Amino acid sequence: MSETGNPVYEKLMGCFQTVKERIPFVPKVALVLGSGLGGFGERFQTEGVIPYEEIPGFPVSTVPGHEGRFLFAHVNGTPVVMMQGRVHYYEGYEISDVVLPIRLMKLMGARILFLTNAAGGLRQEFAEGALMMITDHIASFVPSPLRGENLEELGTRFPDMSRVYDPALQEILRQTARSLEIPLAEGVYLQFSGPAYETPHEVKMARLLGADAVGMSTACEAAAANHMGMKICGISCITNLGCGMTDRPLCHEEVQQAADRVADAFQRLVAEAIGKMGGLPV
Ligand code: HPA
Repeated sequence: MSETGNPVYEKLMGCFQTVKERIPFVPKVALVLGSGLGGFGERFQTEGVIPYEEIPGFPVSTVPGHEGRFLFAHVNGTPVVMMQGRVHYYEGYEISDVVLPIRLMKLMGARILFLTNAAGGLRQEFAEGALMMITDHIASFVPSPLRGENLEELGTRFPDMSRVYDPALQEILRQTARSLEIPLAEGVYLQFSGPAYETPHEVKMARLLGADAVGMSTACEAAAANHMGMKICGISCITNLGCGMTDRPLCHEEVQQAADRVADAFQRLVAEAIGKMGGLPV
Protein backbone atom coordinates (compact mmCIF):
# COMPACT_ATOMS: atom_id res chain seq x y z
CA MET A 1 0.00 0.00 0.00
CA SER A 2 1.30 3.47 -0.82
CA GLU A 3 1.93 6.15 1.78
CA THR A 4 0.78 9.23 -0.14
CA GLY A 5 -2.30 9.80 2.00
CA ASN A 6 -4.23 10.79 -1.13
CA PRO A 7 -7.60 9.01 -0.96
CA VAL A 8 -7.94 8.72 -4.75
CA TYR A 9 -4.53 7.08 -5.03
CA GLU A 10 -5.09 4.92 -1.95
CA LYS A 11 -8.34 3.59 -3.39
CA LEU A 12 -6.71 2.88 -6.74
CA MET A 13 -3.83 1.02 -5.11
CA GLY A 14 -6.26 -0.89 -2.90
CA CYS A 15 -8.13 -2.05 -6.02
CA PHE A 16 -4.84 -3.00 -7.65
CA GLN A 17 -3.83 -5.09 -4.64
CA THR A 18 -7.13 -6.97 -4.95
CA VAL A 19 -6.87 -7.70 -8.66
CA LYS A 20 -3.17 -8.21 -9.26
CA GLU A 21 -3.08 -11.88 -8.22
CA ARG A 22 -6.02 -12.60 -10.52
CA ILE A 23 -4.57 -11.17 -13.73
CA PRO A 24 -3.74 -14.13 -16.02
CA PHE A 25 -1.24 -12.17 -18.15
CA VAL A 26 0.06 -8.64 -18.67
CA PRO A 27 -2.38 -7.01 -21.08
CA LYS A 28 -1.09 -4.79 -23.87
CA VAL A 29 -4.44 -3.29 -24.83
CA ALA A 30 -7.22 -2.09 -22.51
CA LEU A 31 -10.55 -2.14 -24.33
CA VAL A 32 -13.66 -0.40 -23.04
CA LEU A 33 -16.73 -2.09 -24.49
CA GLY A 34 -19.48 0.43 -25.16
CA SER A 35 -22.93 -0.23 -26.61
CA GLY A 36 -22.71 -2.56 -29.60
CA LEU A 37 -19.62 -4.29 -28.25
CA GLY A 38 -21.26 -5.90 -25.24
CA GLY A 39 -20.98 -9.35 -26.81
CA PHE A 40 -17.41 -8.82 -28.00
CA GLY A 41 -15.81 -10.68 -25.11
CA GLU A 42 -17.74 -13.85 -25.87
CA ARG A 43 -16.03 -14.12 -29.25
CA PHE A 44 -12.74 -15.05 -27.62
CA GLN A 45 -11.57 -17.67 -25.21
CA THR A 46 -11.77 -16.09 -21.78
CA GLU A 47 -8.61 -16.53 -19.74
CA GLY A 48 -9.73 -14.58 -16.70
CA VAL A 49 -12.77 -12.78 -15.28
CA ILE A 50 -12.92 -10.30 -12.42
CA PRO A 51 -16.44 -9.07 -11.55
CA TYR A 52 -16.31 -5.43 -10.45
CA GLU A 53 -18.34 -6.20 -7.33
CA GLU A 54 -15.48 -8.36 -6.06
CA ILE A 55 -13.17 -5.33 -5.98
CA PRO A 56 -13.78 -3.29 -2.80
CA GLY A 57 -14.33 0.39 -3.62
CA PHE A 58 -14.73 -0.22 -7.34
CA PRO A 59 -17.61 1.70 -8.99
CA VAL A 60 -20.34 -0.61 -10.31
CA SER A 61 -22.62 0.50 -13.18
CA THR A 62 -26.31 1.06 -12.56
CA VAL A 63 -27.36 1.31 -16.23
CA PRO A 64 -29.59 -1.47 -17.62
CA GLY A 65 -27.70 -3.45 -20.26
CA HIS A 66 -24.30 -2.61 -18.81
CA GLU A 67 -22.55 -5.58 -17.24
CA GLY A 68 -19.71 -5.12 -14.84
CA ARG A 69 -16.55 -7.17 -15.12
CA PHE A 70 -13.03 -7.29 -16.47
CA LEU A 71 -12.48 -9.99 -19.08
CA PHE A 72 -9.04 -11.18 -20.13
CA ALA A 73 -8.49 -12.76 -23.52
CA HIS A 74 -6.06 -12.85 -26.43
CA VAL A 75 -7.66 -11.07 -29.37
CA ASN A 76 -5.99 -12.15 -32.59
CA GLY A 77 -2.85 -12.83 -30.57
CA THR A 78 -2.83 -9.57 -28.59
CA PRO A 79 -3.27 -9.79 -24.78
CA VAL A 80 -6.29 -7.67 -23.87
CA VAL A 81 -8.12 -6.64 -20.74
CA MET A 82 -11.71 -5.67 -21.53
CA MET A 83 -14.14 -3.67 -19.48
CA GLN A 84 -17.55 -5.18 -19.96
CA GLY A 85 -19.54 -2.26 -18.57
CA ARG A 86 -18.30 1.18 -17.59
CA VAL A 87 -19.57 3.74 -15.14
CA HIS A 88 -20.71 7.18 -16.17
CA TYR A 89 -20.48 10.52 -14.41
CA TYR A 90 -24.28 10.87 -14.52
CA GLU A 91 -24.66 7.83 -12.28
CA GLY A 92 -23.51 10.03 -9.43
CA TYR A 93 -19.92 8.86 -8.99
CA GLU A 94 -17.07 11.26 -8.39
CA ILE A 95 -15.20 11.85 -11.63
CA SER A 96 -12.13 10.22 -10.01
CA ASP A 97 -14.19 7.05 -9.53
CA VAL A 98 -15.42 7.19 -13.13
CA VAL A 99 -11.83 6.95 -14.38
CA LEU A 100 -10.57 4.56 -11.69
CA PRO A 101 -11.05 1.50 -13.95
CA ILE A 102 -8.97 3.13 -16.68
CA ARG A 103 -6.17 3.85 -14.23
CA LEU A 104 -6.40 0.32 -12.91
CA MET A 105 -5.97 -1.18 -16.38
CA LYS A 106 -2.84 0.94 -16.83
CA LEU A 107 -1.50 -0.46 -13.56
CA MET A 108 -2.26 -3.97 -14.87
CA GLY A 109 0.22 -3.15 -17.62
CA ALA A 110 -1.91 -1.96 -20.55
CA ARG A 111 -0.10 0.65 -22.68
CA ILE A 112 -2.86 1.14 -25.24
CA LEU A 113 -6.42 2.24 -24.45
CA PHE A 114 -9.12 1.47 -27.00
CA LEU A 115 -12.34 3.34 -26.17
CA THR A 116 -15.73 2.62 -27.70
CA ASN A 117 -19.13 4.17 -27.09
CA ALA A 118 -22.54 4.94 -28.50
CA ALA A 119 -23.03 8.54 -29.52
CA GLY A 120 -25.41 10.92 -31.19
CA GLY A 121 -24.29 12.03 -34.65
CA LEU A 122 -24.06 15.74 -35.41
CA ARG A 123 -23.57 15.50 -39.15
CA GLN A 124 -26.68 15.22 -41.24
CA GLU A 125 -25.02 12.65 -43.50
CA PHE A 126 -24.36 10.23 -40.62
CA ALA A 127 -26.54 7.17 -41.04
CA GLU A 128 -27.80 5.31 -38.00
CA GLY A 129 -25.10 2.75 -37.18
CA ALA A 130 -22.27 4.76 -38.74
CA LEU A 131 -18.89 4.25 -37.11
CA MET A 132 -16.75 7.28 -36.33
CA MET A 133 -13.12 7.21 -35.31
CA ILE A 134 -12.47 9.84 -32.65
CA THR A 135 -9.71 12.25 -33.71
CA ASP A 136 -10.08 14.67 -30.79
CA HIS A 137 -12.54 15.51 -28.05
CA ILE A 138 -14.19 18.38 -26.18
CA ALA A 139 -14.43 17.63 -22.45
CA SER A 140 -15.17 21.14 -21.22
CA PHE A 141 -18.71 20.30 -20.05
CA VAL A 142 -17.66 17.71 -17.48
CA PRO A 143 -15.22 18.08 -14.58
CA SER A 144 -11.62 17.09 -15.19
CA PRO A 145 -10.63 13.74 -13.66
CA LEU A 146 -7.30 15.41 -12.87
CA ARG A 147 -8.93 17.97 -10.57
CA GLY A 148 -7.45 18.08 -7.07
CA GLU A 149 -3.99 17.26 -5.85
CA ASN A 150 -1.95 15.86 -8.73
CA LEU A 151 -1.14 12.16 -8.48
CA GLU A 152 2.54 12.46 -9.33
CA GLU A 153 2.85 8.66 -9.39
CA LEU A 154 0.50 8.65 -12.39
CA GLY A 155 1.50 11.74 -14.36
CA THR A 156 2.33 15.40 -14.51
CA ARG A 157 0.22 18.31 -13.18
CA PHE A 158 -0.32 19.98 -16.56
CA PRO A 159 -0.36 17.27 -19.23
CA ASP A 160 -0.20 18.19 -22.90
CA MET A 161 -3.41 17.33 -24.79
CA SER A 162 -2.32 18.10 -28.34
CA ARG A 163 -2.39 14.44 -29.46
CA VAL A 164 -4.68 12.58 -27.12
CA TYR A 165 -5.69 10.15 -29.89
CA ASP A 166 -2.54 8.50 -31.15
CA PRO A 167 -1.76 9.02 -34.86
CA ALA A 168 -0.28 5.52 -35.32
CA LEU A 169 -3.35 3.88 -33.77
CA GLN A 170 -5.61 6.03 -35.93
CA GLU A 171 -3.73 4.83 -38.99
CA ILE A 172 -4.22 1.21 -37.94
CA LEU A 173 -7.96 1.83 -37.59
CA ARG A 174 -8.15 3.53 -40.99
CA GLN A 175 -6.26 0.76 -42.75
CA THR A 176 -8.19 -1.99 -41.01
CA ALA A 177 -11.54 -0.41 -41.90
CA ARG A 178 -10.42 -0.05 -45.49
CA SER A 179 -9.31 -3.65 -45.77
CA LEU A 180 -12.55 -4.93 -44.23
CA GLU A 181 -14.57 -2.52 -46.40
CA ILE A 182 -16.26 -1.05 -43.33
CA PRO A 183 -16.95 2.69 -43.72
CA LEU A 184 -15.23 4.62 -40.94
CA ALA A 185 -15.91 8.34 -40.55
CA GLU A 186 -13.63 10.57 -38.48
CA GLY A 187 -14.50 13.36 -36.12
CA VAL A 188 -14.55 15.13 -32.79
CA TYR A 189 -16.44 13.70 -29.82
CA LEU A 190 -18.02 16.02 -27.28
CA GLN A 191 -18.91 14.75 -23.82
CA PHE A 192 -21.92 16.18 -22.01
CA SER A 193 -22.67 15.06 -18.49
CA GLY A 194 -26.12 13.55 -19.25
CA PRO A 195 -28.17 11.63 -18.30
CA ALA A 196 -30.79 13.55 -20.28
CA TYR A 197 -30.19 13.66 -23.98
CA GLU A 198 -29.39 17.11 -25.32
CA THR A 199 -31.89 19.80 -26.16
CA PRO A 200 -31.98 20.89 -29.81
CA HIS A 201 -30.04 24.03 -28.89
CA GLU A 202 -27.38 22.09 -27.03
CA VAL A 203 -26.97 20.04 -30.18
CA LYS A 204 -26.75 23.25 -32.20
CA MET A 205 -24.11 24.57 -29.79
CA ALA A 206 -22.09 21.34 -30.03
CA ARG A 207 -22.15 21.58 -33.82
CA LEU A 208 -21.03 25.22 -33.68
CA LEU A 209 -18.15 24.18 -31.44
CA GLY A 210 -16.94 21.78 -34.09
CA ALA A 211 -18.13 18.50 -32.61
CA ASP A 212 -19.24 15.64 -34.85
CA ALA A 213 -20.69 13.39 -32.14
CA VAL A 214 -22.07 13.80 -28.62
CA GLY A 215 -22.10 11.31 -25.79
CA MET A 216 -21.90 10.85 -22.04
CA SER A 217 -18.63 8.97 -21.55
CA THR A 218 -15.17 8.55 -23.01
CA ALA A 219 -13.57 12.03 -23.05
CA CYS A 220 -12.90 11.99 -19.30
CA GLU A 221 -11.51 8.46 -19.65
CA ALA A 222 -9.20 9.62 -22.43
CA ALA A 223 -8.07 12.59 -20.30
CA ALA A 224 -7.12 10.29 -17.41
CA ALA A 225 -5.33 7.85 -19.73
CA ASN A 226 -3.46 10.68 -21.45
CA HIS A 227 -2.27 11.87 -18.03
CA MET A 228 -0.73 8.44 -17.51
CA GLY A 229 0.92 8.39 -20.94
CA MET A 230 -1.27 5.73 -22.49
CA LYS A 231 -1.68 5.57 -26.26
CA ILE A 232 -5.35 6.10 -27.00
CA CYS A 233 -7.80 5.46 -29.80
CA GLY A 234 -11.57 5.43 -29.92
CA ILE A 235 -14.57 4.65 -32.06
CA SER A 236 -18.10 5.97 -31.61
CA CYS A 237 -21.05 4.00 -32.87
CA ILE A 238 -23.49 6.66 -34.10
CA THR A 239 -26.82 5.28 -32.96
CA ASN A 240 -28.98 8.31 -33.80
CA LEU A 241 -28.81 11.87 -35.04
CA GLY A 242 -28.57 14.56 -32.38
CA CYS A 243 -31.78 15.81 -30.85
CA GLY A 244 -33.58 18.25 -33.11
CA MET A 245 -31.83 17.03 -36.27
CA THR A 246 -34.79 14.73 -36.95
CA ASP A 247 -38.34 15.00 -35.69
CA ARG A 248 -38.13 11.76 -33.68
CA PRO A 249 -37.66 11.83 -29.89
CA LEU A 250 -34.71 9.84 -28.51
CA CYS A 251 -34.95 6.82 -26.28
CA HIS A 252 -32.37 4.50 -24.71
CA GLU A 253 -33.90 1.33 -26.20
CA GLU A 254 -33.58 2.69 -29.72
CA VAL A 255 -29.99 3.66 -29.07
CA GLN A 256 -29.25 0.12 -27.92
CA GLN A 257 -31.08 -1.46 -30.85
CA ALA A 258 -29.16 0.69 -33.34
CA ALA A 259 -25.89 -0.30 -31.67
CA ASP A 260 -26.87 -3.98 -31.83
CA ARG A 261 -27.58 -3.75 -35.56
CA VAL A 262 -24.05 -2.61 -36.37
CA ALA A 263 -22.44 -4.84 -33.73
CA ASP A 264 -21.05 -7.41 -36.15
CA ALA A 265 -19.10 -4.97 -38.33
CA PHE A 266 -18.01 -3.00 -35.26
CA GLN A 267 -16.71 -6.13 -33.57
CA ARG A 268 -14.86 -7.33 -36.65
CA LEU A 269 -13.17 -3.95 -37.03
CA VAL A 270 -12.12 -3.78 -33.38
CA ALA A 271 -10.82 -7.37 -33.30
CA GLU A 272 -8.79 -7.01 -36.48
CA ALA A 273 -7.32 -3.67 -35.38
CA ILE A 274 -6.35 -5.02 -31.97
CA GLY A 275 -4.52 -7.89 -33.67
CA LYS A 276 -2.40 -5.31 -35.51
CA MET A 277 -1.80 -3.29 -32.36
CA GLY A 278 -0.10 -6.32 -30.86
CA GLY A 279 2.81 -5.69 -33.22
CA LEU A 280 3.35 -2.07 -32.16
CA PRO A 281 6.52 -1.31 -30.19
CA VAL A 282 4.86 0.43 -27.23
N1 HPA B 1 -26.60 12.06 -27.00
C1 HPA B 1 -25.81 11.67 -25.98
N2 HPA B 1 -25.43 10.42 -25.80
C2 HPA B 1 -25.84 9.51 -26.69
C3 HPA B 1 -26.66 9.85 -27.78
C4 HPA B 1 -27.05 11.20 -27.94
O1 HPA B 1 -27.76 11.58 -28.88
N3 HPA B 1 -26.88 8.70 -28.48
C5 HPA B 1 -26.20 7.71 -27.83
N4 HPA B 1 -25.58 8.19 -26.75
